[in-house]
Amino acid sequence: MLSAVGGESVTGDYVRIHEVGPRDGLQNEPSVISVARKVALIDLLSQSGLRDIEVGSFVSPKWVPQMADTDQVLAQLSPVQCVRYAVLVPNKRGWDGFLDARRDDIITDIAVFIAASEGFSQSNLNCSIAESVDRLRPVVAAAKETGVTVRGYVSCVTDCPFDGPTSPQQVADTVAMLRDLAPMQISLGDTIGQGTPDRISAMLEAVLAVAPATDLAGHFHDTGGQALANIAVSLAHGLRAFDSAVGGLGGCPYAPGAPGNVATEAVLDLLAHSGYETGVDARFIAQAADMARGMR
Ligand code: HMG
Ligand code: MG
Repeated sequence: MLSAVGGESVTGDYVRIHEVGPRDGLQNEPSVISVARKVALIDLLSQSGLRDIEVGSFVSPKWVPQMADTDQVLAQLSPVQCVRYAVLVPNKRGWDGFLDARRDDIITDIAVFIAASEGFSQSNLNCSIAESVDRLRPVVAAAKETGVTVRGYVSCVTDCPFDGPTSPQQVADTVAMLRDLAPMQISLGDTIGQGTPDRISAMLEAVLAVAPATDLAGHFHDTGGQALANIAVSLAHGLRAFDSAVGGLGGCPYAPGAPGNVATEAVLDLLAHSGYETGVDARFIAQAADMARGMR
């Protein structure tokens, strides 16, 4: 059964951190990172109390060679109960790859991704926004039939590296297109880290007209150094789920200028000082951040 938030509540003082370093971080690294090193990072993160870790992608290996070994990563990681391991799936071909690699002893979620701007859609998925949604129809239907939880990403929620500023209404329309496929949590991606609290706030106001805060997450890259401020403003709008990458790993190969995701350790600090619970042990994250920095 599809579940908007992996079957758990995300209201109140609990904030759910989605660790995306092993995927969003490592997909952009120029050097080859072995399966063993990826698995060591994921296994360490799994011990920290994190409940969601994105571990790879079933995308074209020609487009993103760093994620070509995601099947082996899934095969070799040591699952921890209560951790949900997620992978990106762009189309039916990716879904089939996911099904082949799926293990019975791990909860695996999929994440589908589209853009709020046509330029980034073409660059990242080689098709228009409408076509990308059509390609996801059979994926989401198959996930529903198989009982796999689906999360959705919308990229370029404030700015596109090709089309310039994205209007809040454009983002709301794109979120609605994904949620028309099925109920799912939508992670709002500031892909190139140009968002500021005022603009994030305007974007969220538009999006909150089509989806409740409990079904939204913030995904902030940190180019402009505004990611923590953008998380703060998102918290004020009721969001209680954020994506981050240990050690500030990150970037997107199809978004020139996309820097690292906001660092998990910095988000934990902000949340702890603001009185939010995450259930994540910062000592494990500090160790994992050292390991992640050693991969750059
Ligand atoms: P395409 O070339 O238009 O696809 O790419 P196609 O259907 O014409 O197929 C071309 C070839 O790719 C064929 O192989 C297919 O079999 C193969 P060939 O005959 O040439 O040997 N193919 C695949 N192989 C493996 N897995 C697949 C797959 N699909 C086709 N799933 C495609 C379309 C979507 C595949 C391509 O554009 C792609 O892989 N894009 C992914 C790009 C990507 O992963 N970007 C990074 C993730 S998104 C991100 O980072 C943003 C995010 O963090 C949020 C934010 O920050 O905003 C999520
Ligand atoms: Mg990203």
